Amino acid sequence: MADRWWQAGILYQVYPRSFQDSDGDGIGDLPGILARLPHLVELGVDALWLSPIYPSPMADFGYDISDYTAIDPVFGTMADFDALLSAAHAHGIKVLLDLVPNHTSDRHPWFEESRASLHNPKREWYIWRDPAPDGGPPNNWLSEFGGSAWEFDPATGQYYYHAFLDKQPDLNWRNPAVREAMHDVMRFWLRRGVDGFRVDVIWHLIKDDQFRENPPNPDWHPGRPPAEKVIPLYTADRPEVHDVIAEMRKVIEEFDERVLIGEIYLPIERLVTYYGADLSGAHLPFNFALLNAEWHAETLARLIEEYETALPEGGWPNWVLGNHDRPRVGTRVGRDQVRVAAMLLLTLRGTPTLYYGEEIGMADVAVPPERVRDPYEKNVPGIGVGRDPCRTPMQWEPAPHGGFSTTEPWLPLAADFRQENVANQQDDSTSVLNLYRRLIALRRQNRVLTQGSYEKIAATGDILVYVRTLSGDRVLVALNLSGEPVSMALEGRATRGRVLVSAFGDRDGESVDGEIALRGHEGVVIALDRTPAGA
Ligand code: GLC
Ligand code: MG
Repeated sequence: MADRWWQAGILYQVYPRSFQDSDGDGIGDLPGILARLPHLVELGVDALWLSPIYPSPMADFGYDISDYTAIDPVFGTMADFDALLSAAHAHGIKVLLDLVPNHTSDRHPWFEESRASLHNPKREWYIWRDPAPDGGPPNNWLSEFGGSAWEFDPATGQYYYHAFLDKQPDLNWRNPAVREAMHDVMRFWLRRGVDGFRVDVIWHLIKDDQFRENPPNPDWHPGRPPAEKVIPLYTADRPEVHDVIAEMRKVIEEFDERVLIGEIYLPIERLVTYYGADLSGAHLPFNFALLNAEWHAETLARLIEEYETALPEGGWPNWVLGNHDRPRVGTRVGRDQVRVAAMLLLTLRGTPTLYYGEEIGMADVAVPPERVRDPYEKNVPGIGVGRDPCRTPMQWEPAPHGGFSTTEPWLPLAADFRQENVANQQDDSTSVLNLYRRLIALRRQNRVLTQGSYEKIAATGDILVYVRTLSGDRVLVALNLSGEPVSMALEGRATRGRVLVSAFGDRDGESVDGEIALRGHEGVVIALDRTPAGA
């Protein structure tokens, strides 16, 4: 039975800068999250994952860490963190932190020592190489955020490697001292009561020890990120990374009931290797397949099938619709389809992760050039890689600054925040928020949805239909991916039942017999009648 909390539960990602500001600096913080905890309790989620809250120069908004075991003053204090942790726990909500082991800030004392001299004891904590014979970078490795991944350090005459910004030097994970230091960071937070980690770019941790050139990517074309000019054959997804992850997993296992989640952008067949040999890797390698999927019934059905088939024995699935790095689902599939997307996310087999704002159907916000904050957009402008649009403040109320802050927020609010916000949706039974609440409540109470098997029934045209089954109990999900009405005859064993949840909240309880008719952008979750014994 799959009933560990991170299997049956629902995860919710908070981007702390953008959830709730409590001290009027226009930036969200920990006391703000604490104040909004009732929203998460009402929503019914099981765990909160916080993007980084540690001291940071904020070159990459917290993904450049200068101290792994403290809280950045912009977010509050350690006492604020402890208060949030114990309040969340009091409501039965787990708290996960973002662990960023691949790189530190260039202002982390480890790096400051490392760059101080060729013979500093911390030199081998980072990846230093001599220049190429012509004085240029050691090889052709590229930074995800544009340009060479190598930065020259004039003081010591060597280059250091950075997979992201030059202000984010990569740690040398081949060095056991680095591993031990990071394990101690994990223990520091686990002892404090943290329930696990989402590990940043876990598939990047190990790079080729021979520093071989990455092959050119024949499919690259202008308009694609410059990092894609080469195939990251020698800089990511290296075989030795699995040993590193297994060691992290052992640290997690020193404590009860904690979870290890990995951020991994790879094709499904590579992704599933991150469960590790004999499940010694991540409990949940994040499955981002829906982030780029074409929104067509057949494509989705194929992708679900492919994932279900690729999972190793005992490997628990998971699904994600959005995060702080990718366009919001409301923009990708269109606002009209967010209900259908929610129904998909919350009825598939596997742990769902929600990204803050999805529950009110938030879409990307156009950020004017003078307000761009994301370093990726600044380095690689104009091709749409910017991540500010999906990081805008949570829309709470039809009040100044959306109830997020008492002052102009660090990123602009959506233009329509006075209509689209938690307070307005609260009282509207047809709102996206109330759909999320009903789906989550259903998922919490109906074990077919958390434990049942998955079987595709139909994926034709714009209609996607599948059934979840647990010891004879069956729940059927029918989704209309278009704006046109569709209908489908139900055949075989699955013909009669009762609607548990419908996209617009107006068909709950309706009986179904032989046919499902869906309005545009509608979906239904149906409890099928049990087949009579012997039938
Ligand atoms: C991950 C984070 C992203 C960050 C990058 C570098 O992909 O999700 O926000 O910029 O790692 O740390
Ligand atoms: Mg603040």
